[in-house]
Amino acid sequence: MDQKDAATGLPREWQNAGIMNDAVLSPPPVGTPGGPKVLLEVFGCQMNKLDAELVVTALKRAGYDFTDDDDEAAAVLLVTCAIRDQAEHRVHSHLGELAVAKRSRPDLAVGVLGCQAQREGQDLLTRWPSLDFVAGTRDFGKVAKLLDQVRADRTRVLSIEGIADEVSEQRDVTVRPHRGRAFVNVMRGCDKPCTYCVVPRTRGAEVSRSMVDVVTEVEELVADGVKEVTLLGQTVNAWGRHEGHSLGELLHRLEDIDDLHRVRFITSHPEEMDDTLVSAIAACRKSGLFLHLPPQSGSSRMLRRMARGYTNERYREIIAQLRERIPGIEIGGDIIVGFSGETDEDFEATVDLLRDVRFSQSYIFRYSPRPGTPAFGRLEDDVPDKVKRKRLKILNEIQTEIMRERHEALIGTRHEVLVEGSSRKDARRLFGRNLAFDRLVFEGESSWEGQFVTLEVTGATPLTLSAKVLAEPTDAPRDTTLARTT
Ligand code: 5AD
Ligand code: SF4
Repeated sequence: MDQKDAATGLPREWQNAGIMNDAVLSPPPVGTPGGPKVLLEVFGCQMNKLDAELVVTALKRAGYDFTDDDDEAAAVLLVTCAIRDQAEHRVHSHLGELAVAKRSRPDLAVGVLGCQAQREGQDLLTRWPSLDFVAGTRDFGKVAKLLDQVRADRTRVLSIEGIADEVSEQRDVTVRPHRGRAFVNVMRGCDKPCTYCVVPRTRGAEVSRSMVDVVTEVEELVADGVKEVTLLGQTVNAWGRHEGHSLGELLHRLEDIDDLHRVRFITSHPEEMDDTLVSAIAACRKSGLFLHLPPQSGSSRMLRRMARGYTNERYREIIAQLRERIPGIEIGGDIIVGFSGETDEDFEATVDLLRDVRFSQSYIFRYSPRPGTPAFGRLEDDVPDKVKRKRLKILNEIQTEIMRERHEALIGTRHEVLVEGSSRKDARRLFGRNLAFDRLVFEGESSWEGQFVTLEVTGATPLTLSAKVLAEPTDAPRDTTLARTT
């Protein structure tokens, strides 16, 4: 917990526990034995992780294997994020290291994929002569072909599709890092005008996948042993709106799939919260009791400058409604500090929001101006970095205190978790999440992964809940009401 993430100031452990995560895929995915080995490094959000899974599928089919060891890699591929400056810097410094490595291993192929690739394009190839190929956010399906080409004739390739294109999701449902759970992309891109955000530029306009596509994919995953799905979209609660569907309708449809036990979805936009969705979460017993609903700020003035489409009052009203209608629901938030024009008074409004809403987890970011966003060059980045850092620290301290209190209040309560995995250091130390997305750590057998266990919370720190096992693991939840009532 002492190692902090440079971009957010949060402990790395926290980062890894939640929605955002940066990592070399380790242990490496299973590929084609004996094939050339690829090291895949994934920066950023869950969407990127899923994109990485699509890349794994394509590479495996093309005869590649995987490694997490630099020295034996024939290729290093970076799946990148463009949301903050710092994420892009990290990729550049990594490319610097790879350029050095390539001096002694000229055969090493290096590729940059995803959001930063989409944003920087040709500039990346120009800046890094050692870089072999760049593939954008809608080119993941082509990665195997590009890598083959680069390895065969050492050409350098830029592959950036027009981002408004329809997406083809060629997914092999059997390729996924976890036995019991899977991510499902339900939409791509974003149509929101948030002035600070680069996503509409890197991922293009909002496109929802059809109801039938999504349901079929979930059914295939469930047939292959998946018990929990997480539906992914930048504004997932707007899913299907152009096609006359709604996320609430999809939750009801998924509720009918036998052997599927949990449905989560991230990320929701406050402006798109509606009654149908609230009723659906309340009615569907399989629906997770956690809503990632980023407020970004507690100041209506800042929200207007950010073009978020709601006020502080409206956000609070939504939270009050959710809590009234869905007992046990927990809310996760993202907040940006130091956006253009943020005064002490604006910041205090955010402090109040954090204290009043009591998010079960929240990610707090310093504003990072991004070229190509509506704010860039128009709304001055006028909050000094020192002030941004101070505000970030204050909010992180408040959030940590809230989490400590929240966790301590859970001591003695019972929860049913889906076992997600075991600690790398100690295979008997398992972890899993309850319906409300709390992460519990407990002792058990690594073979329990993908099963449900009933636990009682015995200890709490701001970041961890420790628990003891009350009943043997089962294939299905014993009591779907458990997490809804404790
Ligand atoms: N600077 C800082 N944080 C940002 N986010 C998005 N764009 C920026 C930016 N330019 C944050 C928002 C979003 C999360 C994924 O990243 O809080 O919800
Ligand atoms: Fe970015 Fe706003 Fe879209 Fe979220 S809703 S991805 S913050 S533009």
